[in-house]
Amino acid sequence: MAEHKSAENKTYIGSLMGGELDLGEYARYLSQLAPVYVALEARANPSDPAFLRDARLHRSAAIASDLIALGYPDWRTRFPVLDATAAYAAHLAVVSDQHYSIYLAHHYTRYLGDLSGGQIIATMMTRHYGATDEQLNFYQFAGIDKPVPYKRSYREQIDALELTPEQDDRLIAETRRAYELNAAVFDALGA
Ligand code: HEM
Repeated sequence: MAEHKSAENKTYIGSLMGGELDLGEYARYLSQLAPVYVALEARANPSDPAFLRDARLHRSAAIASDLIALGYPDWRTRFPVLDATAAYAAHLAVVSDQHYSIYLAHHYTRYLGDLSGGQIIATMMTRHYGATDEQLNFYQFAGIDKPVPYKRSYREQIDALELTPEQDDRLIAETRRAYELNAAVFDALGA
């Protein structure tokens, strides 16, 4: 919760959510999530628990289509990858080769966030900047009609994992790291 509050309180996200920026700035923010989700979604380990392999969560295609709908077909060159984003994606590439309980920390932090506060972000982008549905596919999870029971079930499946105390500790430490990596991207966007 402390890490969540600290990420949520970043000046940049506050300005974006508070209506002080514009849709172009939102697009710049979204563009930084593209390499993150490509790295997160590159893992294909058939022995991972099924909830970590749920393709309905995947966001890479939605990010690209939202950026085009936002008016940036040239988004890849228009918005260069920031150092903080590159560091996050590089960390995910390392994590992808590790035990699923480490990967889970990153999977949880992004997707449960998107299914929670992400829904508020979508509402604010429409309210303040007039974003349309076709620009907000990122927050629409086709096939997951009810985020609340989905999140409950996801958490139950984490609880049911049989992890050693060391794996538990590492999972928690890695989740903190995931928040820090996200916060660093916000800081870089705001700089
Ligand atoms: C504008 C910024 C944000 C807002 C308004 C926001 C808001 C929320 C809200 C309302 C919840 C729901 C809590 C519940 O289900 O009881 C939530 C959950 C969550 N948020 Fe955020 N959040 C923001 C930023 C972030 C960021 C930057 C991350 C990390 C990348 C994040 C990760 C999460 C996660 C993982 C959960 C799920 C907790 C759980 O159900 O286990 N959030 N957020």
